[in-house]
Amino acid sequence: MTNPVYEKLMNCYDSVKDRLPFKPKVALVLGSGLGDFAEQVEVEDTIDYHDIQGFPVSTVPGHKGRFVFAHINGVPAVMMQGRVHYYEGYPMTDVVLPIRLMKLMGAQILFLTNAAGGVNFDFAAGDFMLIKDQISCFVPSPLIGANLDELGPRFADMSHIYDEDLITMIRDTARELDIQLKEGVYVQLTGPAYESPQEVKMCRVLGGDAVGMSTACEAVAANHMGMRICGISCISNLACGMTDVPLSHEEVQETSDRVAPLFKKLVWESIGRMGIS
Ligand code: HPA
Repeated sequence: MTNPVYEKLMNCYDSVKDRLPFKPKVALVLGSGLGDFAEQVEVEDTIDYHDIQGFPVSTVPGHKGRFVFAHINGVPAVMMQGRVHYYEGYPMTDVVLPIRLMKLMGAQILFLTNAAGGVNFDFAAGDFMLIKDQISCFVPSPLIGANLDELGPRFADMSHIYDEDLITMIRDTARELDIQLKEGVYVQLTGPAYESPQEVKMCRVLGGDAVGMSTACEAVAANHMGMRICGISCISNLACGMTDVPLSHEEVQETSDRVAPLFKKLVWESIGRMGIS
């Protein structure tokens, strides 16, 4: 008997596989602030999430829902314009389905982006953080359930979730572009409420530098499938309790929008270099 999670994935793949304009090398997930990146590249094709039967569709305001195919700085790429979050009520296997699907489309590299709260006191709103490692154990693993042997092993090794060579390349790219790039550990919590000050402190004590509600589960699923992964957080705010100002979704959006041009430049240039790596 086929596993229902695998069956759903393969059904989604069957409905997109004849619509791909090319085989993508890079899969790019556009987080808050990068969402309109897809409007600034020469779009070759799009597939609306609504047109893929069974595909999870985001309910968050400001999050679009489609795959966008384009050559980014010469590299064939598929972008996710809009992702779903665990807090929207989807099972974790649905949350990571799009990532698995992009791997089936042919993508070898996963480039994750997000907006996150800084928990490191050396960070400021508007900073970028290259993700070096992550803490995902506060959300259920997307690998729970019967293992999908077709995708990867039961007990996946997570010693190097974020690819060392990609980390070095992005670090060098940022330096050459004169873009300041912090580095650190991303902690995924469920949300949707922002963290309490004590939870923020907990993240810091555990070695976290930024906190958010996405990304780490996607990286777990992608690593299970053997993808090379890199990720950058846009620090849209300092996490709750670190400043006197209450946090709002509007602030997160405003800061992400303000620094978006630099973020796009870094992503564009980094992907260009992935063409040869
Ligand atoms: N916490 C969690 N997720 C976030 C934050 C935050 O402070 N900012 C942007 N996404």
